[in-house]
Formats: sequence, C-alpha cells, structure tokens
Amino acid sequence: METRPLGRTGLQVSTIGFGGARLDEHPEQAMETVHRALDLGVNFIDTARYYGNSEKHLGEALRGRRSDYILATKAMIEDPDVTRESLETSFSLLEVDRVDLLYAHACDNEARYTYLMRDKGMLHTLEQIRSEGLTRFLGVSFNHFLPYEHGRTGIDRMKALIETDAFDVIQLPMSLIRIERVEDEILPLAAERDLGVVINFPTADGLLTRDIGVFQSILDPYISTPCQGALLALLLYPAVTSVLSGMSTSAIADENCAVGTILAGLSEAERDQLRHKIQDVGIGPCRSCGRCAPYTQGIPVPQIMTFHDSAQRFGIQAAHQRYEGHKVQVMACTDFEGANAVCPEGFDVLAKVKKVFDD
Ligand SMILES: NC(=O)c1ccc[n+]([C@@H]2O[C@H](COP(=O)([O-])OP(=O)(O)OC[C@H]3O[C@@H](n4cnc5c(N)ncnc54)[C@H](OP(=O)(O)O)[C@@H]3O)[C@@H](O)[C@H]2O)c1
Repeated sequence: METRPLGRTGLQVSTIGFGGARLDEHPEQAMETVHRALDLGVNFIDTARYYGNSEKHLGEALRGRRSDYILATKAMIEDPDVTRESLETSFSLLEVDRVDLLYAHACDNEARYTYLMRDKGMLHTLEQIRSEGLTRFLGVSFNHFLPYEHGRTGIDRMKALIETDAFDVIQLPMSLIRIERVEDEILPLAAERDLGVVINFPTADGLLTRDIGVFQSILDPYISTPCQGALLALLLYPAVTSVLSGMSTSAIADENCAVGTILAGLSEAERDQLRHKIQDVGIGPCRSCGRCAPYTQGIPVPQIMTFHDSAQRFGIQAAHQRYEGHKVQVMACTDFEGANAVCPEGFDVLAKVKKVFDD
C-alpha cells in the first residue's frame, strides 16, 4: 500500500483510507472488514458522529490496535456546546481520549461557513479544542459544492476556508465524472498551502463501482475492476493524499485496497501519462456553480447537465438513471426567467437542459 504525507501534519497515511460511513449497511461484517483493511495496509480511518453506528463499530473493531491507525472523526459546528458534546460522545464510542484529526463536518452551505468564519465563531472553538489536546489537527469537510449563496459558490467557500490557514486537511468530493473543477481550483491551492487532501464520494455515490465507461480502456492494463479504476484515477493527482473508500465487506476491502498496491507499481511518468489521458477525454460545459438555481423551478440543472455529460462523453450508462426522471418536468417548462443572465457560461439555460432530453 502506497502511503503519502498528510500535508504539513507530519503524518504518513495510506492512499486508500477507510471510509466509515457505510459500516451500518453490513453491521455483522463490520469488525472483519475493518481488520481486513488494516491488514492490507490501510492506516487512515474516517468516521463521523453522524454516520449511524460507525463510531461504535470502529471502537469495537479497533480495540487494542490504537497504534495501527490514524483516526479522524467529524463534528457538526452549529454551536460550541453541541460540538463539545458531540466530541465527547465520539470519544466514548471510539474508546479513545483524543483523535488525530477533527473535521468541521459538511461545511458546504453558507450557514455553516458563517458559523465557522464569524468573529469568535466555531473556528475559534475548534482552535480551543485543538489547544486542549483533544485533536492533533483540524480539517474541514464538504459533501458537495452547492448551493450558490450570498454571491459565493461552494468552491469559493472552500477556497476562503483554506485561506484562513486554520485547517491542515480538507476533505471534499471528487470523482472521475469531475463535476466541479476541483482539479483546477482547489488542488493547486491546497498544494501551495501544503494541506492534506482527502477525497470522499470517489465513486460519485456508487455510480462508478461497476462501470467507468471510456476510462476503463485507459486504465485497463493496471486494474481488475471498474471500482479500482475510479479510485486509482484520483490518486494520479499528486495533490491528492488519500481516497476514502466506503468498504462494507472484506471482499470490497480486498478489491479496493489493492489500488494502493497498483499505484505503488506505477512510475511517475506512467502516472502523468494516465492522468493526461483521463483529462483529455474532456469535461462537460456546465461548471455546476449553481447560480441558476433560483430561476429553474426546482429543477437541478447542474446535476442533470453533469450526469448527461457522464453518459454521453464518458459512456457511463448508469448515469442516465440519475437524470432521466426529470424529463417530464423539464419538457413542461416554458421559461427559466433570469437564469441566462446569471449563467457565467452564457448559456440559454432552458434550451440547454431541454437539449439533454432531445439527444
Ligand atoms: N465529509 C463528509 O461529510 C462525507 C460525506 C460522505 C462520505 N464521506 C467519507 O467518504 C467515504 C466514502 O464515501 P462512500 O462510503 O459514500 O462512498 P464509496 O466509497 O464510493 O462507496 C459507496 C458504496 O459503493 C459500494 N462499493 C464500494 N466499493 C465497491 C466495489 N469495489 N464494488 C462494488 N460496490 C462497491 C459499497 O456499497 P455496498 O456495500 O452497499 O455495495 C459502498 O458502500 C465515506 O465512507 C466517509 O468516510 C464523508
């Protein structure tokens, strides 16, 4: 298993991290799956107070193996007392008295961004928590980069949070379908600041576990399964430290952890070549900024455009199911008044989204 430095923290983490969000899906296999992943070289465990019984499963599975792994959890950040209470509960379930990394959880929207950023706000509380030794490092996590609010896209919020210099690690969604331009806008900034970059949702919420379309032939010589391709592709970016894989069975752990070994066998030249081939496939015209949302009558235009691009350009068949259901609603619309004026790409937004269903 290849490891990488987690930015400036001094920690060395496995390139495949254990994503703990779905341990409740096969609770009877949780213990075996965690042990299997650790035995395969995973040393980076990711969980959160709000992932069902994930912390409880991990606490039980990791008993007696504390020196084998780097532990990250997440807390909601609406209120200092709630955050502290949540952390105490996490410690009790995880059977630890501190963690290596504490993330401010799901700071995607403007409200959470404001809780963090206001004077003496949650950033201040998190820094106090760190100075008390309850966590060694701080991180911030995003599940997505929408909505556009108060003149800011999710990407803008993430960049501003990076620029506070309070966080050692960022966790964010990225996948082969490259909805938002994380690679253009976030990765260079994170590299400049020497931050750990941890990827969640690497399979676009399961979309890429069985079919990676045109990327299969690019990665074919190295991978045995599509899901391995989805994970490997992200690790071809040097700025990415670790990709979290939601492993819920030992068989999935075997399949997905193998990526850390496949990666270790690739030279720098091979990595660059593969990454360029992936990028050369291109990416759809909509940047998923979300500016049009107030004008589109509840129709999720960025998602429709992205999944359509994934199906058309990348040949990912299952992506059809992610937008087909909106056809009737889109075709019934006669006007998205105001949308064209805010689209930075200058689209006729309604015409563009109707065209998706004409193809
Ligand atoms: N910061 C945040 O707020 C946040 C949000 C989301 C996720 N995360 C983190 O990111 C991690 C990864 O996200 P995730 O668990 O949603 O997604 P994932 O790793 O993409 O896995 C999604 C699901 O795909 C299936 N799967 C995985 N590998 C497979 C394989 N080789 N073959 C077939 N199916 C496979 C599994 O479901 P089945 O077992 O049902 O088949 C798995 O639960 C999470 O566990 C969590 O640690 C963080």
